[in-house]
Amino acid sequence: MDESLINIRPLEEEHLRKSNWLNWLSDSETTQYQNLGYFPQNLIRQTNYINSKLLSNEDALFAIEVKNSNDKFIHVGNVGLHSIDFIHRRCILGILLGEKEYRGKGIGIYSWNFITNHAFKMLNLHKVYAFIFIENIPSIKCAESCGYRKEGELIDYYYRNGKYHDCAIYSKTS
Ligand SMILES: CC(C)(COP(=O)(O)OP(=O)(O)OC[C@H]1O[C@@H](n2cnc3c(N)ncnc32)[C@H](O)[C@@H]1OP(=O)(O)O)[C@@H](O)C(=O)NCCC(=O)NCCS
Repeated sequence: MDESLINIRPLEEEHLRKSNWLNWLSDSETTQYQNLGYFPQNLIRQTNYINSKLLSNEDALFAIEVKNSNDKFIHVGNVGLHSIDFIHRRCILGILLGEKEYRGKGIGIYSWNFITNHAFKMLNLHKVYAFIFIENIPSIKCAESCGYRKEGELIDYYYRNGKYHDCAIYSKTS
């Protein structure tokens, strides 16, 4: 996808009301390799989540928007940094492309690079981690394309759909 069609901007509460965000979190395919969607999602729970995260210095959340054929930017996903730690100068990357028709077009890699640069160049962090379900091939490819290297695996780290899944830990150093 032409990168000029992608706009990454600070996440706002309005994103929750004006997009399909809540539906993304209830979609079992979208969340199958994510540590979320365990509890039924609703506006109150998600509004509380947003309000706590948007005021926190431990999280930096952005909306991924893409210009559609009507020349309007639509909210297709979120990308962010979590557990930001300014002592050890590390954080954990999170990404969710909720609108399925926009997957596989390079938006994941673009956003992954954006948020990694934000961690290093804006927040002066030293290391970004990504915790990835071992089965999540698109995520692993995003990590590797953006210069992350695999540090190891955590066995039975995630419980999902009645069984445990291993977690691959990827990281990139500034
Ligand atoms: C994972 C995710 C962010 C990837 O974003 P994306 O825009 O679909 O990925 P891209 O188009 O940038 O492609 C990234 C790489 O994955 C590959 N890829 C994309 N979809 C794929 C698929 N279904 N199967 C295999 N490889 C795939 C691409 O070929 C590319 O590989 P390359 O660098 O070798 O060319 C996105 O699919 C997503 O949000 N999925 C649901 C939520 C999720 O799993 N989040 C990540 C938690 S760590």
